[in-house]
Amino acid sequence: MDRENAGRESADMALVEAARVHAPSGLTLVSVCITCKSADGGAVVGPDMFESVKAALGSSDRVQVRPVQCLSVCKRPATVAVTSADGYTFLFGDLQTESGTAALVSFVKSYQNSGYGLVPWRERAEVLRKGMVARVPPMRWSPDDGGAPK
Ligand code: FES
Repeated sequence: MDRENAGRESADMALVEAARVHAPSGLTLVSVCITCKSADGGAVVGPDMFESVKAALGSSDRVQVRPVQCLSVCKRPATVAVTSADGYTFLFGDLQTESGTAALVSFVKSYQNSGYGLVPWRERAEVLRKGMVARVPPMRWSPDDGGAPK
């Protein structure tokens, strides 16, 4: 291994270690809106999304999927939020049941291994990049400069 690659690998390992130290340690909560209707206001699409995401992610001490009634993103169905006590909260819209579920499974895995749950852009599926509505820092975020807790 040459010096440049050794330095890059060392820097990568430092990032991985920093992510591991600050990764959300507890439960990742996935909230799926069950009252979302299709964009034309017709069919209710939320329950299918909820059942699909729940079946794919299961339930454990690391992840829980819960139904919620409206995330106030009604014009962008279906909508899902991912959060934890010490991680970012992400809110997504415009999700289709099949592609959205697959994307969320991958996202939750990355979320649990990312510093403060801040999943790198390159690890987010296209549907989640396009469907991003909001990301909100954890409660412990600095009130002074808006940065990560020291
Ligand atoms: S009904 Fe689903 S976000 Fe409002």
